[in-house]
Amino acid sequence: MSILIKNGRILTASEDYVADIYIEGETIHSIGIDLNTQADQTIDASGKVVFPGGIDPHVHLDMPFMGTFSSDTHETGTLAALHGGTTMVIDFILQTQGKSLHHALETWQGRSNGNCYGDYSFHIAVTDFNEETKKEVIQMIEEEGITSFKTFMAYKGALMIDDGQMVALMQEVKKRGGMVTVHATNGDVIDGLIAKHRKEGKLSPLYHYLSQPEFTESEASGRFVDMAFYTDVPAYIVHMTCEGALNQVRNATKRNQKVFVETCIQYLILDASLYEQNPEGAKWVMSPPLREKKDQKALWAGLNQGLIQIVATDHCPFKWEQKMMGKDDFSKTPNGHPAIENRMELLWSEGVEKGNISANKYVEVTSTNPAKIFGMYPQKGCIAVGSDADIVIFDPNEAHKLSVDTHHMNVDYSAYEGWEVKGKCKTVILRGQVAIDNGEVKIEKGYGQFVKRCKISKVI
Ligand code: URP
Ligand code: ZN
Ligand code: ZN
Repeated sequence: MSILIKNGRILTASEDYVADIYIEGETIHSIGIDLNTQADQTIDASGKVVFPGGIDPHVHLDMPFMGTFSSDTHETGTLAALHGGTTMVIDFILQTQGKSLHHALETWQGRSNGNCYGDYSFHIAVTDFNEETKKEVIQMIEEEGITSFKTFMAYKGALMIDDGQMVALMQEVKKRGGMVTVHATNGDVIDGLIAKHRKEGKLSPLYHYLSQPEFTESEASGRFVDMAFYTDVPAYIVHMTCEGALNQVRNATKRNQKVFVETCIQYLILDASLYEQNPEGAKWVMSPPLREKKDQKALWAGLNQGLIQIVATDHCPFKWEQKMMGKDDFSKTPNGHPAIENRMELLWSEGVEKGNISANKYVEVTSTNPAKIFGMYPQKGCIAVGSDADIVIFDPNEAHKLSVDTHHMNVDYSAYEGWEVKGKCKTVILRGQVAIDNGEVKIEKGYGQFVKRCKISKVI
């Protein structure tokens, strides 16, 4: 199978030019002006932007959490991702406390194997670091190609590890060439504030927000950064929301420490005023919570300063009935919101179209940096000869509205209902196959492949 994409405006993290792309099999064969190679299929991309398929390194598919499961499976989630221009995701495996990492891996493989439309990889969350888990770190890296280890500084009793375990894990991961990533919030303080609010009968979604003040995130981010400095492990903070946490990373750069930072689309464009709605505010109950306008400003600046390298989603959808598990008590609302399908279009529209980031920065933070930081570059994350032909053909002029009526995520509301975006993913190619064309699905379930990743120590 071969495809010739003609006359598109090719965007990478560093280039912007008009040319043709010739794809043979799963990879890009050649790029040039006026290529006249014969192909099985020719796509006219005149007037369109052509960029590498999005990589969303933070999604939770079919994940057991807070007494229920996130509502997108590996099938529905990766398909919705493709509709929105994301050709690869990195999903989170959660170790059950008292059980092994391998047990968790096998459970997630049972859910994902043969079920994905889009390509995928896993991070593994270490929730119980002990002598047995320690032996598994090297196996995850060397045998499974799972090179990033997620930690939680909150969700005590289910996911949280203490600082002693954190440092011990960091030392082992450093030795084996991996990376430690973190949900950085102070779980003990948050649990105390939740208990206080519940005791006072303050149970609406607003109190979810008020139980996680900014300092709980900045304090934990700073603590994590210090532990990473001490152990010299490659470190990555997921879903950063606020100015205070960003300043902890800014301080670390003063001692020449490099910490990678991810924010998510919602923290750039939504704010905490949504929590005043009851019960609708439950749609945005996530951790950490949405913040203030001044934090949005800091995050956009952080992207442009290079302090934040990635915009992900933390896609963790729940249907309204699931969200209503917390109708009488915010602390029972499953945390998370749906965005896997919306990230690429929202960030183009709110970022590039509105002049908050450049088009090259857009490619960098949605695709190239995730591929580089997580050990998949240049197989993924770029438009270059020899790379996987994961390509989005995007119409920057097509305006449309996001809605539950048109999205493909398995959730019965949109967190962005009625939001007007300028720019639409028209054709999405995954490893040389047209996967989505004008909203039509052209591949079968199971086309998506597991991507083994390189040791992080080799790439950064
Ligand atoms: O609210 C969130 N973020 N839910 C998913 C789990 C996590 O903390 O990332
Ligand atoms: Zn988290
Ligand atoms: Zn998450």
